Amino acid sequence: MVRSASAGLTVRMRTQVAIVGAGPAGLLLSHLLAQGGVDSVVVETRTREYVESRIRAGILEHSTVELLRSAGLGSRLLQEGAEHRGIYLQWPGERHHLDFLELVGRSVWVYGQTEVQKDLGRARDAAGQQVIYDVRDTEVHEPATPYVTFTVDGRLTRLDADVVVGCDGSFGPTRAVVPGTTWQRTYPYSWLGVLADVAPSTDELIYAWHPDGFALNSMRSPTVTRLYLQVPSDTDIDDWSDDRIWQALADRLGHGQDGWRLQSGPITEKSVLPMRSLVQAPMRNGNVFLAGDAAHIVPPTGAKGLNLAVADVGLLAPALVALLRENDPRLADTYSDRALRRVWRCTHFSWWMTTMLHTGDDPFDAQLQLSQLRWVASSVAGATGLAENYAGLPIGF
Ligand code: PHB
Repeated sequence: MVRSASAGLTVRMRTQVAIVGAGPAGLLLSHLLAQGGVDSVVVETRTREYVESRIRAGILEHSTVELLRSAGLGSRLLQEGAEHRGIYLQWPGERHHLDFLELVGRSVWVYGQTEVQKDLGRARDAAGQQVIYDVRDTEVHEPATPYVTFTVDGRLTRLDADVVVGCDGSFGPTRAVVPGTTWQRTYPYSWLGVLADVAPSTDELIYAWHPDGFALNSMRSPTVTRLYLQVPSDTDIDDWSDDRIWQALADRLGHGQDGWRLQSGPITEKSVLPMRSLVQAPMRNGNVFLAGDAAHIVPPTGAKGLNLAVADVGLLAPALVALLRENDPRLADTYSDRALRRVWRCTHFSWWMTTMLHTGDDPFDAQLQLSQLRWVASSVAGATGLAENYAGLPIGF
């Protein structure tokens, strides 16, 4: 311990890689670094309980599953997750199945981010990883010779590191020390998401275009359904009673169409999610790197957020191992460009899915959307494009 001028005692710590944020990106990075023989310390402003219970998307693309499996994190995922061959696309009067396995030879898995988070937490516990939760006032300093400061249990702490990685989301402190260009789009609608204790009414996800707005029928397990409705951006959740939600879902998802029924049940969670796209470049300044939501946000349509974070970490971990163990900077030097190539692909895909499926008040746009949906659902070329992006490109794309 050393004495600091302003705050009495400062606890000093040192590690090779300081990771800001213990979400899936941060914990997976610490896991892969440890497997490569590199030490890390993770700091997180939230509590562990909060991080493990926050609800996010639940679709893992092919390369995410492969990476988790090869890192020894796949056993519960393969046991409790569900492999899906494809999705349904629908609009009033029509429902079409897109079979990704047939189209591109790759599938996706339904497995909630909360479960990925718990698996990572347990794996890091087993390895004795130092994760410091519930910290305050986190700041990243001096990108060339970086260190992180924070307070925990009222004590100011300074964590020195060879490299700092911000896995702390778009509102986290690390972005502030990585200057560059930011591209953004805010969409004029939000999602109202609900979790319900009822068996899914569908074997695979239904993405529904409807004049009243988009709806999505997803799931978390054989007994838990996840559903979303397009709502105006300024929606007050209190205006949406459970009955109103189920009625809107039934209308938009086509309850009664060709004998299909939407099963309703007790709603256990509901929230409104804003929709935005954001990309920041570069994803590095000196020895500070960004991964996951700290550098890019996608709207949830297409479920790319977690998959992009995993892909970033899949590139960054070997780059940092080469840098810190072999003093070889080549992969670290190209990390930002390689990651951003995929980020922009997924940014485009998420924007495309979003704008194809969400309705506005322009009848011309509605006709274009329906024409696009018919083409995607009926042409092998159209369906293959969606399948290739949805099931995911290889990690190194
Ligand atoms: C989800 O289950 O939360 C989910 C699934 C697919 C999406 C978005 C969210 O495109």
